[in-house]
Amino acid sequence: GPASGQLATDATSLDALRELARDCRACPLWAPATQTVFGEGPATARVVLVGEQPGDTEDLTGRPFTGPAGQLLDRALGELGIDRTQLYLTNAVKHFRFERRGKRRLHRNPEAGHVQACRPWLARELALLQPEVVVSLGATAALALMGRGFRLMDERGRWHTLSGGTRLLATVHPAWILRQRDDAARDAAYAGFVADLAQLAARGN
Ligand code: URA
Repeated sequence: GPASGQLATDATSLDALRELARDCRACPLWAPATQTVFGEGPATARVVLVGEQPGDTEDLTGRPFTGPAGQLLDRALGELGIDRTQLYLTNAVKHFRFERRGKRRLHRNPEAGHVQACRPWLARELALLQPEVVVSLGATAALALMGRGFRLMDERGRWHTLSGGTRLLATVHPAWILRQRDDAARDAAYAGFVADLAQLAARGN
């Protein structure tokens, strides 16, 4: 919304942007969440990975991709010889959306309105980072970056161009791999994910 947009465009560094995002109330997700989970990584990163939103673990640690999906991502990057500490990792939506079931907190997909409210933060992260390459993980990140016409399962594993000229590689989300129905489906989904990310390794990062 206008609140986050105005604040975000004022920030002249990632640290300043992170500080501003801590108090974001541009959508209702801040209230039940523990904290804003902002992006993380070197300001000099040439590659930015964009996920969907923090999960239960990330909501508690305050850091992106520190839960089960993050571990699977780490495994894939490790197999490809890509150093995670060289990457900037962030999400399309920066608060955990969930539904309470007793003691458990069940992940819920963000709505288009949440993505839109949060978009100024992502846009400013990218403007400050000026990366060579953006990798979108899953349909929500692809929506946030490429808009509604983008068909992830047709377009994944291929290079695209963001307005402004930055190259974008789209792939699936590691949490989607973990949700596959059985081991065979999970293995196939993981292999496809690694094959998509191999495009990154091939360009020399
Ligand atoms: N899934 C995401 O999209 N982002 C995270 O930070 C963790 C899980």
